[in-house]
Amino acid sequence: MPEVGIDWDALRAVAVDLAGRAYAPYSNYSVGAAALVDDGRVVSGCNVENAAYGVVLCAECGLISDLVAGGGGRLVAFTCTNGDGEVITPCGRCRQLLFEHGGNGLLMETPAGILTLADMLPQAFGPADLDAAR
Ligand code: THU
Repeated sequence: MPEVGIDWDALRAVAVDLAGRAYAPYSNYSVGAAALVDDGRVVSGCNVENAAYGVVLCAECGLISDLVAGGGGRLVAFTCTNGDGEVITPCGRCRQLLFEHGGNGLLMETPAGILTLADMLPQAFGPADLDAAR
């Protein structure tokens, strides 16, 4: 079982806490995201909406900013929840953001159980494609 050793309950608790901090006055749909980094850090984010609706920052955007600003590293395990504490799946754009920093093997908590990012975003385009073309 690849997910052995990961405290999913603790990670989800961080996501739930972050969902409580969301700024989502337009959709009224709060999201919190949390991830374990390969050095043991936990990074997190919440969604931040804007009066210009299309400018919304998903919770995963904040999480990736937290990761990079905190020194980088590789994402190992990820979860996100809505404001009711239910596990949800990241939107397509955010799967791409996660792929850049976690790759195919990133473990994802989903309503269907623990999957990999490769399950959620098959045949992803990523840094290796650019390397191959250089
Ligand atoms: N949202 C996220 O934060 N992450 C996702 O992966 C899906 C959608 C937010 C964006 C918006 O503020 C609200 O959920 C409704 O779409």
